[in-house]
Amino acid sequence: MKKKVVLSGTRSTGSLHLGNYFGAVENWLNLQNKYDCYFFIADWHSLTTGYEDTDNYIANIKEVVMDLYASGLDSDKCNIFLQSKNQDHAELHLLLSMITPLSWLERCPTYKDQLSQLAEKDIRTYGFLGYPCLMAADILIYRAEGVPVGEDQLAHLEITREIARRFNYMYGEVFPEPKALLTKAKVLPGLDGRKMSKSYDNTILLKEEDDVLRAKIMSMVTDPARIRKTDPGHPEICSVYAFHKVFNQAEVASICESCKKGEIGCVACKKNLYGKVSEFLRPIQERRREIAGKPKLMKEILEKGNANAKIKTDETMTMVRKAMKVNWE
Ligand code: TRP
Ligand code: SF4
Repeated sequence: MKKKVVLSGTRSTGSLHLGNYFGAVENWLNLQNKYDCYFFIADWHSLTTGYEDTDNYIANIKEVVMDLYASGLDSDKCNIFLQSKNQDHAELHLLLSMITPLSWLERCPTYKDQLSQLAEKDIRTYGFLGYPCLMAADILIYRAEGVPVGEDQLAHLEITREIARRFNYMYGEVFPEPKALLTKAKVLPGLDGRKMSKSYDNTILLKEEDDVLRAKIMSMVTDPARIRKTDPGHPEICSVYAFHKVFNQAEVASICESCKKGEIGCVACKKNLYGKVSEFLRPIQERRREIAGKPKLMKEILEKGNANAKIKTDETMTMVRKAMKVNWE
């Protein structure tokens, strides 16, 4: 039986952090063993909000490739490729943009959200408004059936399905309607208790050096009610505790109890956590050092992935041009 096509992308905004790892990458590691997977670096997407400063554009792509490799994504099991190296994405984006009503883009909740959240940036551009249309092209061009994404991307996936339906209705059946593969991703808060995000400056990077890792963990916010060690704590509101749930399953129950009883201090609790996170990151960082010393390996991974991606997108574009009757011989 043919394996189901699964596709997902990550923007290249710099090195990946633990939030990216547990929110997406960990899921990809499982999927690569089961499906026909296409995982790509959405470098054009990073331009939608970062077009003004492109000095680190290429360096950011490399960071992501290294982090994906270091995390265990295996180019023998899945296709890892770069969006901008397959210009079929751009052609399909253009064709789909012709049939995408403005109102669908304007009412996309992430559009309004981002406009107000990134008020310091001028993102009132054509490209930023059309972001979901580019994302639809990324997905539909592989005729993907499953798209592992976080909840923050569901609105985009809904627009993708609407565009697919509209295309199929106007020109004939070409695209399957992709479904979100929502898995129970582990939720890791950032150092300050908010969502871990580069824009909040509250992340722990996969490549974090040990001394920085230690300092960051020691600076994490805990239950503010705990001033002395004997004060009873509320682990459920503590970021350190949320980390223990992910990194220290063996001890999490006893930590919960002794925190509530005021039997452990936060400093000791953080030191314990630091040991666990450091242990978790060690093999990832070893693999990262390995690929950092082999720029050719990085190139080979992407070239292989892009070659396979191109086979698939050629096929789809032939179908699309034919269905639309825009195929000049
Ligand atoms: N928009 C996604 C994000 O910000 C990245 C992305 C671009 C993507 N194209 C995609 C994800 C296609 C899934 C499928 O995280
Ligand atoms: Fe958080 Fe641990 Fe302090 Fe409890 S003891 S508040 S779980 S850091």
